[in-house]
Amino acid sequence: MELVRATEAAAIRAVPFIGRGDKNAADKAAVDAMRVFLGTVNFDGVIVIGEGEKDKAPMLFNGEHVGNGTGPACDIAVDPIDGTSLTAEGRQNALSVIAVSSRGTMLDASSVFYMDKIVTGAAGFGVVHLDQPIGDNLRALSQATGKPIGEMVVAVLNRPRHEGLIDAIRAAGAGTRLMSDGDVAGGINAARYGTRIDMCVGIGGSPEGITTACALKALGGFMQGRLAPKDDAERARAIAAGLDVDKVLDLDDMVSGDNTFFVATGVTDGGLVDGVRRKGPIIRTESIVMRGKSGTVRRVVADHLAAKWL
Ligand code: FBP
Repeated sequence: MELVRATEAAAIRAVPFIGRGDKNAADKAAVDAMRVFLGTVNFDGVIVIGEGEKDKAPMLFNGEHVGNGTGPACDIAVDPIDGTSLTAEGRQNALSVIAVSSRGTMLDASSVFYMDKIVTGAAGFGVVHLDQPIGDNLRALSQATGKPIGEMVVAVLNRPRHEGLIDAIRAAGAGTRLMSDGDVAGGINAARYGTRIDMCVGIGGSPEGITTACALKALGGFMQGRLAPKDDAERARAIAAGLDVDKVLDLDDMVSGDNTFFVATGVTDGGLVDGVRRKGPIIRTESIVMRGKSGTVRRVVADHLAAKWL
């Protein structure tokens, strides 16, 4: 629960940058706040997978030690803002995210920026597979859940690389929920019970893949991923780092064991949580806190005295 203070702080500090067109400034405010608050948490954390390298954005560095060093030894994945462009444009679904697991259990996928992913609820186990054509996966999931394909909705990042995938989803009879950014929320919504999203597919960030995997442990959902190097040089770096870029990664390959924690605070409003709101003297945040071991998902609404955040 202490971790949520770090995502709350990152979300609150990002607020002045919502809709201001400067995604790096938003990210920097969130990174700085997260770093300070992570320093107060009772753990001996090492950032296994950070974020920001793609466009020289500010970042918490891979290998950086965080926490006050007194508690359990942990691996950490951070995404101070998943949806920096969403924040800069004032759009929905930006989140501040931290995922934690026991030391040595999180896949260090930092040498490959992208990962191909598929996420569904628990019904996907033994039914859906990353290597199957999307139409087959939709038909199999439809059969397993009893939900007609025509009622199914698939979340996918709206990118030119997904044109064929989007066409194939629609040709199979399902609808798409095109996301301009933010596939952590997309993946969680695909795995969560009672949402309108049945599946989340496509290529997004590998840090986002690992954080989503930590959340999936608490949700009991199905996820597979495969690293997707951009070019031969990245592929060679990944192989040199000991990664198998051809392997379909199951949840346990991405984060082994179930001692996982996932926390996310809304920066802007979204389907998962509300964004930061100012209410008179109060700043209200909404967060979701997930614990893999117990399979618990908590919502934390916090009121922060605005005067303390000047
Ligand atoms: P950032 O806000 O951290 O840049 O990530 C946003 C995001 O949409 C992720 O949710 C997603 O995994 C990744 O970027 C996709 O990368 P790209 O924008 O290069 O397609």
